[in-house]
Amino acid sequence: MKTLIQCSLIAIVLWGCAGGLNPKNTEKVNAAFAKYEDSDGKAIFREKCAKCHGYKLPETKTAEKWPGIIDRMAKKAKLTDDQKSDVLAFVTKHAKAS
Ligand code: HEC
Repeated sequence: MKTLIQCSLIAIVLWGCAGGLNPKNTEKVNAAFAKYEDSDGKAIFREKCAKCHGYKLPETKTAEKWPGIIDRMAKKAKLTDDQKSDVLAFVTKHAKAS
């Protein structure tokens, strides 16, 4: 019974982290970020945006979708207003073509 509970907890945690690029996969992360030129937004995104889920890279959402998402995520990641606009500029610049 105890094992069952432990397994369920692990499953829930793993499920919660599912989606996006796993930040522990350094090689893939480096390759993914090498595509973008350096900017403050890129650095902030890289530092703050894979703490709860994997990296949800800019090209996975359209430029119309990002502002609403960044509004929600900036609070979660406790970004300052400046950091928030830097990240928004970064993700919309490389957003998926709509
Ligand atoms: C404190 C935890 C946390 C942090 C930090 C965080 N997120 Fe999230 N993120 C979530 C959760 C929980 C969800 C799923 C619920 C939701 O969509 O609001 C999510 C969902 C998302 C989605 C999918 C939204 C959709 O509508 O498909 C994107 C994209 C995303 N996050 C990007 C980011 C970016 C960019 C950052 C950095 C600024 C960030 N997240 C930081 C917790 C976090």
